[in-house]
Amino acid sequence: MTTTQSTDQGADDPTDYTPELDPGSAQAGAHGHIYRQVTPEQTEVEERLVASVVDSFGSCQDPRLKELMEGLVTHLHAYIREVRLTEEEWGQAIEFLTKAGHITNETRQEFILLSDTLGASMQTINVNNAAYKDATEATVFGPFFVEDSPAIELGGDMAFGAVGEPCWVEGSIRDAEGNPLAGARIEVWEADEDGLYDVQYDDGRRAARAHLIADEEGNYRFWGLTPTPYPIPNDGPVGQMLDAVGRSPLRAAHLHFMVSHPGTRTLVTHIFPQGDPIGRKDTVFGVKDSLIKNFEQQPAGTPTPDGRDLGEQTWSRVRFDIVLAPEGA
Ligand code: BEZ
Ligand code: FE
Repeated sequence: MTTTQSTDQGADDPTDYTPELDPGSAQAGAHGHIYRQVTPEQTEVEERLVASVVDSFGSCQDPRLKELMEGLVTHLHAYIREVRLTEEEWGQAIEFLTKAGHITNETRQEFILLSDTLGASMQTINVNNAAYKDATEATVFGPFFVEDSPAIELGGDMAFGAVGEPCWVEGSIRDAEGNPLAGARIEVWEADEDGLYDVQYDDGRRAARAHLIADEEGNYRFWGLTPTPYPIPNDGPVGQMLDAVGRSPLRAAHLHFMVSHPGTRTLVTHIFPQGDPIGRKDTVFGVKDSLIKNFEQQPAGTPTPDGRDLGEQTWSRVRFDIVLAPEGA
């Protein structure tokens, strides 16, 4: 492969392949930077290959699959060409993905962590959850949801013995016209004070997760835990990647919600305590201003909303009113 660095030789010099600074040209990087120069002949070789691979999907019967594969190949090749990927680097990338596959099991999903830390999860959520009136914003799902969460009554405790400061959470579920959504299903899950989800415990118990059903007025309430920041699992290839690029594995403190009701778009979101020092540095880019809430700290001895006796324990309370967009919005 012929590559040259730009030189200060004359414009007529046949070895000077310095192109015009055209941000749209095949030789310009995503930010308009020229990474390396290649000869017109080399450009033709590279472009011919892209065209051949794109053409190979020509007889695909599924138009969406065809679009996805053509787009993938076009962007993948553009990336390889833009950064002038070396064979060694490509080998390292394959090795990275192989390690991600090997560490993935029923409770550890390294590819979700990769997608999350590259902002791909958040971008997919942005694309699929366009703003609709006052509908509550969505954020990342994360790898710690489980299908079989225990049911709790309104006002029940989803901690099930997980360690942490109790937090009273309440709010309403409405549609975008302001109608209460009686019977909405609310799934909630969070890490304990040590930054662990129950699926990371070694005894298989369920804790700090539950589902509950909104009442006739669309209201809900439950006891959870005041969220604390925690690192995403970082003992695998994604952790090594974060380390190598100088990024923290910490997630902003949060409490997960998934809220569904017939006729509405299912909402997957979290709320984040105001004043969390991690906040915007969230390693999965999940924080949105509208989701930052005031978790009001309550000194020990402050009467609780439901008369629960917390003794000398401090607690917090937060209100989260949720608006669901219509299905298909
Ligand atoms: C979480 O919120 O639980 C999470 C999200 C993305 C990556 C890791 C964890
Ligand atoms: Fe989480």
